[in-house]
Amino acid sequence: IDLYGSARRNAAGFNLADESALRQLASAMTGLRTEHRAVSAVAVSVAAAGPSIAITDPADRRRVLGYWQPLETAALRPVVQAARAAQPAWNALPVARRAELLERAADRLELRRDDFLFLLVREAGKTLPDAVAELRETVDFLRYYAAEARRLQAAPTVLPGPTGEHNELQLHGKGVFVCISPWNFPLAIFTGQIAAALVTGNTVVAKPAEQTNLIAIALLRLLHEVGVPADVVQGVLGDGDVGAALCADPAIAGVMFTGSVAVAQAINRQLAARRGPIATLIAETGGQNAMIVDSSALPEQVVKDVIVSAFHSAGQRCSALRVLYLQHEIADKVLHMLGGTMQELVIGDPALLSTDIGPVIDEAARARLAGHAARLHARGQVLEQRSLPEAARHGSYFPPTVAAIDDIAQLDGEYFGPILHVIRYRSRDLDAVIGSINDSGYGLTLGVHSRVESTWRRVQALARVGNCYVNRGMTGAVVGVQPFGGEGLSGTGPKAGGPHYLLRLVAERT
Ligand code: NAD
Ligand code: ALA
Repeated sequence: IDLYGSARRNAAGFNLADESALRQLASAMTGLRTEHRAVSAVAVSVAAAGPSIAITDPADRRRVLGYWQPLETAALRPVVQAARAAQPAWNALPVARRAELLERAADRLELRRDDFLFLLVREAGKTLPDAVAELRETVDFLRYYAAEARRLQAAPTVLPGPTGEHNELQLHGKGVFVCISPWNFPLAIFTGQIAAALVTGNTVVAKPAEQTNLIAIALLRLLHEVGVPADVVQGVLGDGDVGAALCADPAIAGVMFTGSVAVAQAINRQLAARRGPIATLIAETGGQNAMIVDSSALPEQVVKDVIVSAFHSAGQRCSALRVLYLQHEIADKVLHMLGGTMQELVIGDPALLSTDIGPVIDEAARARLAGHAARLHARGQVLEQRSLPEAARHGSYFPPTVAAIDDIAQLDGEYFGPILHVIRYRSRDLDAVIGSINDSGYGLTLGVHSRVESTWRRVQALARVGNCYVNRGMTGAVVGVQPFGGEGLSGTGPKAGGPHYLLRLVAERT
């Protein structure tokens, strides 16, 4: 689509109803094409050190995909210094040159689609449709930010000069950005952060989530292959200590973070406490996302959207539905149909085209969900829980679960998986429902199902959330179409894939 007068191609489509395309996809899932040599960084000045850690398939922990080595924090300084030294020359390039490199990366990603789909399925446990969607989102991020930077930075804005002087406003890269990303969108968010920072004239040190290092390494190598210089984008592997050490470095200009609220708050404190310039922080975090369903809603549509929003992607989207508010008059019918539909879901190997629900990312995630479900069981609140198939025995699986609760305030944080909480409400209490959702402090996504326009408009007007979806599912925001990001505990903004995002990454000079 040509949204802003600069032609931008959407990511290539993929017809999941085309048998031969599906067969090709399935065959791309066989065989191992991953990095087996242990790697600790894709950086100019770092040699691997420390013990090797095996990366295993979440669907079958016996399958080793590769190895990595955490970087010593002492090795980070030269990486940041190299990024800092490279930034002025990178910033001095015409924006068209930087944008072109992103567009080349997008093209290359589409050419090497199968390699990345393989990693998304095997390392991150994504189902094939989710993997395809993530690859397309990644390509869209690259092309969208390239087009946006051309729009913003191609020429300075000439301002009035009433006394005959010449005034102009220029946008420059700020310096070195540290990009810290989560495992649940290991390609799209990892690439989106890097692309936005690079195209505006910043250099990058990226620290991917430790669960999905292989995908990150493959993407960094692809960026280097298309011509982004090695010191302009570097990646270092490690856990939170490595991320924290990067954020403490006085030479960085800012941090782009996506992940949990607690880590965003720790980074915020760290940036405030360090020496050096006042840093820019973009932090995109979690949600306690609700959907409100009134008695005018279409039950079949509600159930379809609830299944996708709460259980697909094994509930591991920040946008996923956690708390379903059902108006009393429709609640029994929706719950009955939901229970029946849950029994139809196929839980299993994400590489199989028939699978609806794959594994959760690791054993720690599974244990946290299991603990929460056990407490719900003990209180007699579980309404429905699927059993796991025999095929899930060797993986980190958690079954879709529905539990009744009285109040959203009972939830002591985000449970990042396929557990749906249900609350019944009376229509006279609609404003109180919205009030309690707002009081959770989070503000990421909200769904509303109602065929009464005044109802959904009221919900939209009162709810303090970043993305509000009416009569549809509440996941899968599209780059440039539904800019994504939350308020309050859910994030600082600006919205990813939206027209204001790049402005946070530039220094304005008059
Ligand atoms: P996480 O916060 O545990 O980790 C995210 C990243 O931060 C990882 O790379 C991790 O190594 C790093 N990290 C951990 N401690 C750190 C520290 N002290 N300093 C610097 N870096 C540190 O999150 P996760 O489990 O990887 O991801 C899931 C979370 O991400 C969920 O809360 C989800 O809602 C959120 N998320 C939000 C969005 C969004 O756009 N709002 C998108 C995807 C995921
Ligand atoms: N942007 C992702 C979604 O909308 C997280 O589901």
